[in-house]
Amino acid sequence: MEEIKKKVMLSGIQPSGELTLGSYLGAIKNWVERTDEFDNYYFMADMHSITVRQNPSDLRRRTLQQLAQYIACGLDPEKNTLFIQSHVPAHAELGWVLNCYTMFGELSRMTQFKDKSSKHKDNINGGLFTYPALMAADILLYQPDYVPVGEDQKQHCELTRDVAQRFNGIYGDVFKVPEPYIPKVGARIMSLTDPVSKMSKSDKDPNGSIHLMEKPEDILRKFKRAVTDSDTERCVRYDPETKPGVSNLMQIYSAVTGKSLQEIETEFDGKGYGVFKPAVGEAVIETLRPIRQEAERIMKDKAYLESVYKEGAKKASYTAEKTLRKVYKKVGFVER
Ligand code: TRP
Repeated sequence: MEEIKKKVMLSGIQPSGELTLGSYLGAIKNWVERTDEFDNYYFMADMHSITVRQNPSDLRRRTLQQLAQYIACGLDPEKNTLFIQSHVPAHAELGWVLNCYTMFGELSRMTQFKDKSSKHKDNINGGLFTYPALMAADILLYQPDYVPVGEDQKQHCELTRDVAQRFNGIYGDVFKVPEPYIPKVGARIMSLTDPVSKMSKSDKDPNGSIHLMEKPEDILRKFKRAVTDSDTERCVRYDPETKPGVSNLMQIYSAVTGKSLQEIETEFDGKGYGVFKPAVGEAVIETLRPIRQEAERIMKDKAYLESVYKEGAKKASYTAEKTLRKVYKKVGFVER
């Protein structure tokens, strides 16, 4: 019988901050669920992180911690290729080539560049500007069918498609043109203090986000303080337009307990926010507890972590280099 080739899925997260409850519920949890259905590549985008100045020892620690957390969240390294971006030189190599096929005007329109350059006015470096060409390389090297990303990365994924099509238009079918895979509403977890913006690992307000490694008492405190809405009805009802705070807490509670929004409304009918908010906190604590404990255990097992990222880099390089060789040949580089 002919073997059915699985579709390929690839994504990465920058180790530029602590992974949050939003990273878990919005991204990693979905990756775990799709383990068997797809051929998966997930990486720590450390090369992207240095577009903004990083403390070297923090970057190193967070990169390894992120790998430990991926595994602790349930991503099985036997079934998923987990690797560190800088360990696969083909990213930098293809990144350079694609820089030459990405237009200044296109890069100038990227909203993340505009955002980050206004936040880091003293360090508007070339890498920050050409970052989407590196991201296109990250993706196209693996010929993925789907790239699961958040809404904020959609523009970069569209640019990747444009660059792939441009390259294919000149040289023939070299790259698969991937589809972004944006999770449906519900997976987008918002800040606890500003529920109209996304829960972010680079949020300046520590009370807005929950880290995967956070202590239970801190989690509970943040949920108790979470912003609810100023409407007068004060009841647990899902309405993201007029009640973004409560709706976000309901989404979180739903994601960690598996209960539907309707069931949650019924459960807290007639009970105030004073009952609802700590209940969400407790449910989150129970979800994160085993993840935190497992990640702490794995972090201590340096030899195991090393074996995972070495094996991951080997597997990733094998695929990536195949694509890179094709590209080098097409553009006219002499074979090594
Ligand atoms: N740019 C992404 C972010 O900031 C991270 C990233 C880098 C990525 N390369 C990627 C995501 C490739 C998906 C595919 O979140």
